[in-house]
Amino acid sequence: MHIGSFSLANNLFAAPMAGVTDRPFRQLCKQLGAGYAVSEMVTSRRDLWDSLKTSRRANHDGEPGPIAVQIAGTHPQDMAAAARYNIERGAQIIDINLGCPAKKVCNAWAGSALMQNEPLAIAIAQAVVAACAPLNVPVTLKMRTGWSAQNKNAVALACAFEQAGVQMLSVHGRTREQGYSGMAEYATVAQVKAAVKIPVVANGDIDSPEKARAVLAATGADAVMIGRAAQGRPWIFREVAHYLATGSHLAPPLVAEVTRLLLAHLDDHYQLYGEYTGVRSARKHIGWYVQGWPGGDGFRRHMNTLTNSAAQMQSLGAYLADLSQRMERIPAAQHRLAAQGNLSGSIDGQAATQPLSDLVMSV
Ligand SMILES: Cc1cc2nc3c(=O)[nH]c(=O)nc-3n(C[C@H](O)[C@H](O)[C@H](O)COP(=O)(O)O)c2cc1C
Repeated sequence: MHIGSFSLANNLFAAPMAGVTDRPFRQLCKQLGAGYAVSEMVTSRRDLWDSLKTSRRANHDGEPGPIAVQIAGTHPQDMAAAARYNIERGAQIIDINLGCPAKKVCNAWAGSALMQNEPLAIAIAQAVVAACAPLNVPVTLKMRTGWSAQNKNAVALACAFEQAGVQMLSVHGRTREQGYSGMAEYATVAQVKAAVKIPVVANGDIDSPEKARAVLAATGADAVMIGRAAQGRPWIFREVAHYLATGSHLAPPLVAEVTRLLLAHLDDHYQLYGEYTGVRSARKHIGWYVQGWPGGDGFRRHMNTLTNSAAQMQSLGAYLADLSQRMERIPAAQHRLAAQGNLSGSIDGQAATQPLSDLVMSV
């Protein structure tokens, strides 16, 4: 799989998730089998470029390439400037965000709201490509299936984006109107794939190796992108890779390995965010990790009372040491998402579920 001149390790992508897929988490996903990971979105607003939040989002220290930065905004020339700014800071691929329904983004008519304004969306793609092409930086774009059930314009837009020089499209199988409710559908993703020659990435509700394989087969997509199911389970990428290669399931990770990975993740996290913010933002990752593990709920509540990194590390280490006395591998319950078809950590708390039979029939 290629994006421009970049050859990717495989076709399993980590989805960009603001507040989640920071550099430490992306690195972990890549280490555990993701062939590609896009950064959290960076705004095109110049006044925010020097903010601590944006500088953390633009941090790629030690990250294996290609470095892909996602930009969000509403004005073609601002987006072009944002692309150049991020390229100067190490971006090797620029991704345009037309997929995120977050209010903060959509109130300003950015993200998936732009799908309603096709001329503006196309002008943005053209301006960003014009800024990136002379620097030999590929431009990719992430979108939804459309604005609403009555306005599924992903296919028309995909053709226009390809024409504008966009080199890869990721499609989340929901409309803007759906937010994260209901189920992702893949028929529109398949239509996009059939309509363009550039690589297409299928996204939405992929939470198990079986579902990844079914979505690839049903859509003909070149790659799959996994978001919420990787929260607290970054090893899902190697599980999917193993299943796609062999048709059999990889055993759950050893508690000893998970201990090493989680403590290293936390350490990296504190280094990026500093003590105060790091301790607070680490809580959600820890909560996702221990979800469904023995004593996990109580441990998560206890973790939320700790206010310094040393105590968090010590407490997590003790919890995992105790777990290792009881079991060699993390519980198979960690794979409950696949069994139930549910997703963890959905934004609005609504589980997105689709039986595989429906999935295949819906295409
Ligand atoms: C917490 C969170 C933050 C997100 N932030 C972004 C973002 O910055 N840019 C973007 O294009 N999509 C964003 N998304 C959407 C995801 O990339 C993905 O399209 C969506 O979660 C569906 O995939 P999934 O079902 O595998 O999670 C976000 C999703 C979540 C849950």
